[in-house]
Amino acid sequence: MSSQTGSSGAIADPKLNRKVIAISVGAALGGFLFGFDSSVINGAVESIQGEFELSDAFTGFAVASALLGCAVGAWFAGSIANRYGRIRVMVISAILFLISAIGSGFAFEVWDLILWRVVGGLAIGAASVIAPAYIAEVAPSKFRGRLGSLQQMAIVLGIFTALLSDQLFAEGAGGASNDLWFGLEAWRWMFLAGAVPSVVYGLVAMTLPESPRYLVGKNRDEEAAQVLRDYSGEADVDHKIADIHTSLGKDEKRTLGDLKGSTFGLKPIVWTGILLSVFQQFVGINVIFYYSTSLWQSVGFDESQAFLTSTITSVTNIVVTIVAILLVDRIGRRLLLLIGSTGMFLTLGLMAVAFSTATIDGNGDAQLSDAWGTAALIGANGFVVFFGATWGPVVWVLLGEMFPNRIRATALAVAAAAQWVANWAITMTFPVFADIGLTFAYGFYTAMALLSLIFVFFRVPETKGMELEDMHDDVQVKRGKFVASTVGGASIPDDQLRDE
Ligand code: GLC
Repeated sequence: MSSQTGSSGAIADPKLNRKVIAISVGAALGGFLFGFDSSVINGAVESIQGEFELSDAFTGFAVASALLGCAVGAWFAGSIANRYGRIRVMVISAILFLISAIGSGFAFEVWDLILWRVVGGLAIGAASVIAPAYIAEVAPSKFRGRLGSLQQMAIVLGIFTALLSDQLFAEGAGGASNDLWFGLEAWRWMFLAGAVPSVVYGLVAMTLPESPRYLVGKNRDEEAAQVLRDYSGEADVDHKIADIHTSLGKDEKRTLGDLKGSTFGLKPIVWTGILLSVFQQFVGINVIFYYSTSLWQSVGFDESQAFLTSTITSVTNIVVTIVAILLVDRIGRRLLLLIGSTGMFLTLGLMAVAFSTATIDGNGDAQLSDAWGTAALIGANGFVVFFGATWGPVVWVLLGEMFPNRIRATALAVAAAAQWVANWAITMTFPVFADIGLTFAYGFYTAMALLSLIFVFFRVPETKGMELEDMHDDVQVKRGKFVASTVGGASIPDDQLRDE
């Protein structure tokens, strides 16, 4: 029952129409740029370091600075989305992507480049917030997980495209990223290429209908009704609009203050979002993407094979996202996360054990025997499989849907900002961890996977099939079920409440 009825009791149309798929794909283009823009630097970094004569430490700082831009972009996207609408955030983010692509491509010196990368970071952060929020707000509840997972599909396709286009520009120019191609170094073309998807994203965003939940918040009920009818396939539009009004409350102003609560100053559900974000990063997924070359070298591959191994990992990531799309609305978010945490715990654990057998060569690099090298390879790819089929997409789906209408954009912005800070922290600490020892690094990520399992089991709610209007913020989560808190009379359907 819970998958079909909202708090109004209206039966939602179970059909998935093409229009809602099309607009979800349109919004997910932001995810493509998120993936592309955050990875494009990988192919360019060596030449940039050479061209501007940077030390290793400064290069690390320059690369990671964009991630802090992402956190800032995510943070502000929430309030802009509340004030000016979801579509405006997409258009602003597309413009920033474009400026960043052109600016980085024509950067004169390193500070200039850092500035344009930070501008790109603002765009990535904003895109990371607005795609999940928008898709959740237009999708029929029954298919929300699947449509929401399109964002992750777009992210991983973006990562893959950047890998490919970096390689093509380097090859086209003569083999190296600082070789010239039509008068410009290949690394500049790598950034400039991002201009194309930015323009497409901006143009597509302008054709998308505004989110019905935003429109109702601005008392534009007629327009909201039309979107709900035409795109979301809502059968009882009047009821739905009344429900949205109730869930938004009377006060039109939405601020960060709405997130205040009794658990260390915030509402428990906001903490759940933040922790989901932090664990998604603290299991170390981006270490596999950002530092893959050194990882594969230690298992015996030389640098020239790095492109092939990175491609394999990237394609694996794309393929397993399909698994999530197929399962997320069937077996639910929680079960996927629990399976993912268990799998990540085992595969990361295998890597930690494999690296404990390493010997250090003349260059100070870890080297593994053939057998343990194979084990590390299986561990790393198995980890990508488990992450990509579960935590990668599901966290973005949950962040888009788990908060009530009133606080969605703001809470999602805070959780996504936390995710970017966590991403930055992991990226910056990996070299330090690796100096202590790779067993220590992977041991840490293994411990995080175990903690994430416990966290999901106790604190992450199952939201599969629930209406957005049935999400409340005055609730606690116990072992996956919402429990009405003492704060207010939350009207959660009985089958979604746990008996105390
Ligand atoms: C998720 C993460 C992102 C990561 C990607 C890799 O989208 O949020 O940081 O790069 O998965 O698959």
